[in-house]
Amino acid sequence: MKLPAQRLLGAGLLSVAICTVALALTGLSLSRVYQPTAEGAYASLQTMSNAYKALQAVHYWLAFFAVLTSGLTIFGMLWYGWWRSARGLWWSALALGLLVYGAQVTGKPLPLTQHDARTMLTEARIAGSAPGLGPAVKDWILPGGTVNDGSLGRWYQLHRWLTGAGSLLVSVGLLVWMWRRKMPVGGYWTLAPLALGLLLAATVGAPAGTPATHQDLRMGGPVAPMWYAVPMHALLKWSQGLSPSLGWVGAIAIPTALAVFAFALPFLGRGKWAPVWVRGLGLFGALVVVVAFAQFGSQMQSPASRAAPDIDTAMHSGTPGMMDSERMNETMMRMGARLFDEQGCRNCHSLDGKGASGPGPALDGIGALKPSRSWFVSFLKDPAAQGAALMPSYGHLSSEELNALAEFLRAQRKQ
Ligand code: HEC
Repeated sequence: MKLPAQRLLGAGLLSVAICTVALALTGLSLSRVYQPTAEGAYASLQTMSNAYKALQAVHYWLAFFAVLTSGLTIFGMLWYGWWRSARGLWWSALALGLLVYGAQVTGKPLPLTQHDARTMLTEARIAGSAPGLGPAVKDWILPGGTVNDGSLGRWYQLHRWLTGAGSLLVSVGLLVWMWRRKMPVGGYWTLAPLALGLLLAATVGAPAGTPATHQDLRMGGPVAPMWYAVPMHALLKWSQGLSPSLGWVGAIAIPTALAVFAFALPFLGRGKWAPVWVRGLGLFGALVVVVAFAQFGSQMQSPASRAAPDIDTAMHSGTPGMMDSERMNETMMRMGARLFDEQGCRNCHSLDGKGASGPGPALDGIGALKPSRSWFVSFLKDPAAQGAALMPSYGHLSSEELNALAEFLRAQRKQ
């Protein structure tokens, strides 16, 4: 049987499978030096020999291309109707895509850089904000609520299951199947992702990043999304725009519904018109991704560098305003305290033991951790500019109200 765009899409599928096998092999070697503990993770990767550093770089960049190629291949299969004409391959591609994506998400924070620790906390907070299973999932991926040995151990375990067992099994199965059917695929193009991955590994290497501080492990902090999370980040922001507490709809409910829909597509799309509306939906999805990158792409973390983006320096450069004198303005403080209650800050933060335990960090002692009142004002106006993923914007408040809230927060100095 000849499928439409068979050489191209077959090449895509085959390269994801080949990358996955290579990822499993490099991962297996890395697991000999990697230490999945809060204290040891970062150091274990910094102090390894050059041979291992090279392996890590290959692992890092092959994962990049596996995710990218898998996404493009699934889109192509949707477009050319493989979900109708080759259901088995469609489901295998989806399963492999989910596994590769899951492996990327769980593997990315393992080096425990500052960005990694904050990512773990942010992702757990997003999970925890969903109703139903949300809080249980959060406790599972982040036992104890901070990044500690237990949480790192679980991410690592999940990562090994997804790469080692899951995607490796699907890939090997797929390779054997394609080989036995003698499925003709796209020749040398198949090796393009592998070759590009090796090239980037040799030239750019795996970016090191700065180690997580104690505060990153405990409270997390603003974090810029990685490239593969930008569409999810956009969905999160858009649904938060409707209502601050609806973030989980965009970040979790919509992606889950899309995945279920993709798997069910061979059963749903039986009619004569199905290929047309499926292509329409595919184009719409692609458009959403393009808009997401246009809007948030400039804030994302560069895959070639893992230094936390200049969020911190931007934060600290705020010149202290004249209100920063130690004399505290009593009326402002009272107004700030009142706004803190009225504006629903306690729906996500606790202070003095009152309020929700998440998704936001407890704000006790926050005043001592941040540089100035003007930092709080600019953060409240536009948390996204500081990379905060979940915190809604309070830009609609008047500048007097913002200043009062900022003054109130700045006065919180006791832990
Ligand atoms: C929908 C939940 C939510 C609401 C409502 C909310 N926050 Fe947040 N806030 C967060 C989250 C989550 C973070 C951590 C950064 C992130 O992931 O976005 C955060 C971060 C912060 C931080 C920075 C903490 C740090 O350690 O860097 C401050 C300060 C803050 N919020 C103050 C407020 C104030 C004041 C209000 C009310 C006017 C408020 N927040 C309302 C979720 C919320």
